[in-house]
Amino acid sequence: MKDHNLRQCWDENAEAWTILSRKGYDIYRDHINTPAFLKMLGDVKGLKGLDLGCGEGYNTRKIAEKGAIMIGVDISEKFISSARQKENEHPLYISYGLGSGLNLPFKDETFDFCVATMSLMDMPNHDKAIGEAYRALKKKGFFQFSISHPCFATPKWEWFYDEKGERTALACGDYFKKLNGEIDEWIFGSAPQELKDKFNKFKVPRFTRTLSSWLNILIKNGFILEEFDEPYPDEETVKKFPGLADARIIAYFLICRCRKG
Ligand SMILES: C[S@@+](CC[C@H](N)C(=O)[O-])C[C@H]1O[C@@H](n2cnc3c(N)ncnc32)[C@H](O)[C@@H]1O
Repeated sequence: MKDHNLRQCWDENAEAWTILSRKGYDIYRDHINTPAFLKMLGDVKGLKGLDLGCGEGYNTRKIAEKGAIMIGVDISEKFISSARQKENEHPLYISYGLGSGLNLPFKDETFDFCVATMSLMDMPNHDKAIGEAYRALKKKGFFQFSISHPCFATPKWEWFYDEKGERTALACGDYFKKLNGEIDEWIFGSAPQELKDKFNKFKVPRFTRTLSSWLNILIKNGFILEEFDEPYPDEETVKKFPGLADARIIAYFLICRCRKG
């Protein structure tokens, strides 16, 4: 899939994504993935960080609030302009720029760390994107990213339900099939129907690979693997957000931290 097709796709998703996520309907990100991601990130005060595929900047802002000096890059002009608008309203000294993760507009060894939250698996060439992150990192810098869990976000999947209509298990298939830009259509399930009806569903190009091939790309590029997490909500969180119950059945996300040698 070409960069301009990708850009068009994400530009078309950007308005609804920004409005709905800023209203709090990206509950899997806000209450599972981001809290675990920030916990693993640890102390980044004073460090220079790059957020790859920053979207409208939610996680970039969270990391800047921890004291990091952040630059956010995204392929979508619309996401970048929403991120800048938020930065103008509440400055956190974040710079945002348009760019592709496959060809980063930075010199070698620019950043102390690089993050990519739920964006790397959306890029058409994971090998190139990981190589670019490696290049832009200073020696001993770290790369931390979250992706849809490759073992459960398989090309083919179907939920099983009990007699009360609750999800009990997920059947996964075609694990070894490499999707290469096939479009998945969905919208944040927790948003009220009248709001969902106002927007088209997101169109998300999918690029899948197996768990071992993700790990082998990191190793091949020279990264030293440091830490993994498969976050899931505790019972308290599920009481507050019942829509998250299925995230206690399978791992939706894989978070990985690795270091440039
Ligand atoms: C699922 S969204 C995640 C956004 C944000 N990181 C977050 O956690 O809310 C994926 C993001 O990756 C961006 N993206 C996709 N392909 C990209 C590429 N090749 N280079 C840079 N950004 C890309 C999209 O525009 C979108 O903002």
